[in-house]
Amino acid sequence: MQQIPLKKLDQKVKNELSRKSLILVGLMGAGKSAIGRRVASRLQMKFLDADTEIELAAGQSISDIFAEHGEAYFRDREEKIIERLLVDGPLILATGGGAFMSEVTRQNIKAHGISVWLRAELDVLMERVGRRDHRPLLRTEDPRAVMQKLIDERYPIYSQSDITVESRDVAHEVIVQEILKAIATQSQ
Ligand code: S3P
Repeated sequence: MQQIPLKKLDQKVKNELSRKSLILVGLMGAGKSAIGRRVASRLQMKFLDADTEIELAAGQSISDIFAEHGEAYFRDREEKIIERLLVDGPLILATGGGAFMSEVTRQNIKAHGISVWLRAELDVLMERVGRRDHRPLLRTEDPRAVMQKLIDERYPIYSQSDITVESRDVAHEVIVQEILKAIATQSQ
């Protein structure tokens, strides 16, 4: 990849991330992968999606892992793979929506990087997850009720993240800019 000089803000954040990872947290549909990928390309850093890494390591899709081995097995794999990715970092890492609910993973994230919660309203999430049907937790009669329950259970925990940015229907670049500014401000 051709290296072009970075803008001042971007360089500052990249320096801040020279030994720390940036970890995106939030519910399904919050935009963790889409935003993470853009942050990484802007900072010329490595991006990985924890769900994809779990699938590659297992040689199976997440739905198949859930169906064949159950959620507890998936959560165990998720914890171990995220730990490995963070030890091998720094990188920009999108985590699956349940990852941050693990105390072990929260500790690993704290030890290795800066967490950013992409907070989103129920309607925004439902609109986005409705576009695809690959998420085992939402293959139910009433996915909206499931998502509301996850909001109730998880938002108090997600709020322990270092930075919170409201994920909404604006251009991805707006969210990326807010994340970079928040990191730059926090590191002052
Ligand atoms: C899950 C979210 C999914 C995936 C799995 C479980 C969850 O990731 O890890 O289906 O518990 O919220 P995304 O948040 O990337 O969709």
